[in-house]
Amino acid sequence: MATFPENFLWGGAIAANQAEGAWNEDGKGPSIADVVRGGIASGQHDATIDPLRYYASHEAIDFYHRYKEDVALFAEMGFQCFRTSIAWSRIFPRGDEQEPNEAGLAFYDALFDELLNYGIEPVITLSHYETPLALYEEYGGWKNRALIDFFTRYCETVFRRYQHKVKYWMTFNELNNMNRMPFATGAVEAGASAQDIYQANHHQFVANALANKLCHEIIPQAKIGCMLSLSTAYPATCNPDDIFATYQLRRRSLFYADVMMRGHYPAYAQRLFRENHIHLTMHPGDIELLAQYPSDYLGFSYYRSVLHKAGAQLRVDTGGAMGEDNPYLEKTAWGWPVDPVGLRLVCNELSDRYEKPLFIVENGYGGEDIADEHGEFNDEARIAYGRSHIQEMAEAVADGCDIMGYTWWGPIDIVSAGTGEMKKRYGFIYVDKDNEGNGTLARRKKRSFAWYQQVIASNGETL
Ligand code: BG6
Repeated sequence: MATFPENFLWGGAIAANQAEGAWNEDGKGPSIADVVRGGIASGQHDATIDPLRYYASHEAIDFYHRYKEDVALFAEMGFQCFRTSIAWSRIFPRGDEQEPNEAGLAFYDALFDELLNYGIEPVITLSHYETPLALYEEYGGWKNRALIDFFTRYCETVFRRYQHKVKYWMTFNELNNMNRMPFATGAVEAGASAQDIYQANHHQFVANALANKLCHEIIPQAKIGCMLSLSTAYPATCNPDDIFATYQLRRRSLFYADVMMRGHYPAYAQRLFRENHIHLTMHPGDIELLAQYPSDYLGFSYYRSVLHKAGAQLRVDTGGAMGEDNPYLEKTAWGWPVDPVGLRLVCNELSDRYEKPLFIVENGYGGEDIADEHGEFNDEARIAYGRSHIQEMAEAVADGCDIMGYTWWGPIDIVSAGTGEMKKRYGFIYVDKDNEGNGTLARRKKRSFAWYQQVIASNGETL
């Protein structure tokens, strides 16, 4: 078994809108996540909040009020880092204000202090599918260039405020989901044209570069990365048409890392834009900004692999595209193929392509948990998933990949981004809440809790 570096960061990852709840407390404004029907990935949403409808993010797991209990459990597992997002609309409730909401800032001060007291490094995503709703309704989301200024004001505010508390930052969660999930990813309506999508992306690329610039100016010792969904794709056959179609599919994702990691639009983008009649409006200086302020590291999620065939339509989902059946792989109850070797492959692919550090900021097993006759959760399948993926991550380290850390997705059960369910659980900690919102919200350790504890204690040696 290969060993992990001494400074390797083990931990877990969540997002504000999937965990915090308290959707309208202490001055928080609604975000796009607060009006969705089901999961944010669907893009189906109400124009205004319907008091008779159940919205999963409104209470979520009430992390906003229970974070001390949860952080204590993370510390007991030995976490060295914890990834979450700042809910932008807690800080700027509409997104376009000049002054931030002090109560929102105070919440994250308290959360980061709590983490730091246990020696847990916060790893912070600035925008995880939770753009302030007013920026969608009144500005049309990221296709409007005005959002660059709103976002950078927000970034500057939180960089200044938390400069002594947060060393690891990420800009946008899974920007490469724009084509499949434009509402979640860019606050652009579902079914938007390719023109709108790539224009919105251009604004996000500029905002990403400006955030990198600000972060380095305000917190010189910090690292700021981009974050992408990089579950991989294989050709379904050795037909060269399928192989090239799969190469192109992968490029549609890597396009985002190519721009943000390398600092320029790749050559192949010209044909993509030409054939899709995309004409990007750029301001003087945009191209220089992209080149001057690339990302320090590439954060990514990896859940599974897909099989792709030329001409096949891909189903919309979180965690990557969904393709053909792979007869060599088992699937989770939600139909996600389990492919640990794919993780090694992706680490090597990204390492070869970018030659910069990688951070595996999401990997995990979403399944249903049913208590046994003693009331225990024996989540063997989750442990097996974690063990096999960490083994392959160790192989990737031995292959020469520079991996900063690993944060298990959803170390405590949270709301699913894909479906809005609680039933699809990732946690080492069970939360008593069902799909309709019933339950005490009590937390209980699953069997995987002790397993992950020993993984961290042994720096990945004991799996
Ligand atoms: C990632 C997202 O794509 O997948 C998370 O960044 C999401 O927000 C995770 O929760 C798992 O997807 P799901 O649909 O099972 O919640």
